[in-house]
Amino acid sequence: MGRVSIRGLTKAFVKEEGTTVALKNVNLEVRDKEFVCLVGPSGCGKTTLLRIIAGLETAMAGTVSVDGTEITGPDPKRGMVFQEYSLFPWRNVIDNVAFGLEMRGISKAERHRIADRYISMVGLEQFRTSYPYELSGGMRQRVAIARALANDPDVLLMDEPFGALDAQTRNRMQKELLSIWEQTKKTIIFVTHSVDEAVYLAERIVVLSGRPGTIRDIIEIPWSQPRDRTSTEFAEVRRHVLQLIDEGEPVQ
Ligand SMILES: Nc1ncnc2c1ncn2[C@@H]1O[C@H](COP(=O)(O)OP(=O)(O)O)[C@@H](O)[C@H]1O
Ligand SMILES: [Mg+2]
Repeated sequence: MGRVSIRGLTKAFVKEEGTTVALKNVNLEVRDKEFVCLVGPSGCGKTTLLRIIAGLETAMAGTVSVDGTEITGPDPKRGMVFQEYSLFPWRNVIDNVAFGLEMRGISKAERHRIADRYISMVGLEQFRTSYPYELSGGMRQRVAIARALANDPDVLLMDEPFGALDAQTRNRMQKELLSIWEQTKKTIIFVTHSVDEAVYLAERIVVLSGRPGTIRDIIEIPWSQPRDRTSTEFAEVRRHVLQLIDEGEPVQ
């Protein structure tokens, strides 16, 4: 299960130079197995929100719970995939994917069996003994996704995971992610700068306002997958979301 409840979440970073309120009274319910995209102006607290859900950061006020249990710290049940390639350069693909399992003391044979399953899911069978430096950007992100999935998380948290990829690779990765979501039915909370990506992937798009981030609107995308990026309806939803983001930008 992976139902995420965010209630009254407020987060400020207090420093000598001053206080930054990153998030203010964020309330959101994400259903089990839902695919939600978070969009909003740069600096509105998207990464901070994901990090709080991951348990890597604490809130100042409010709570985040998964299936009714309040989050108090990191847990492999919530897998995170970052924009920057966060693989261990000294480990090959299979040992990167099996890392979390190794930390949990699972035997080598068993963790390699599990890792191989997810390596196949992301189409990297031929590269299981390759090192990160031997892989393209898209392949490295596939490894990062396989590594998160190998822990069998309830929730997959993805922070602009395809942001550094070229347009063609990015489109292919989006398709692959949808196929992985179909197969694993994880709850996915996916942060992106790209409204196009959000309209293509999400069941619901959560639009955050400019800092301090607060929920401006939630847009349901009723179409099933696969979606047609060139359709008129697609363009209409994209324009609507872009407008909401623009209006949410703080006045300079
Ligand atoms: N560790 C930190 N210390 C101080 N300020 C931070 C820290 N992390 C984020 N911030 C600030 O909080 C705000 C939201 O940042 P972030 O969550 O990274 O936004 P986004 O991912 O939407 O671009 C920004 O103003 C950022 O500078
Ligand atoms: Mg960010």
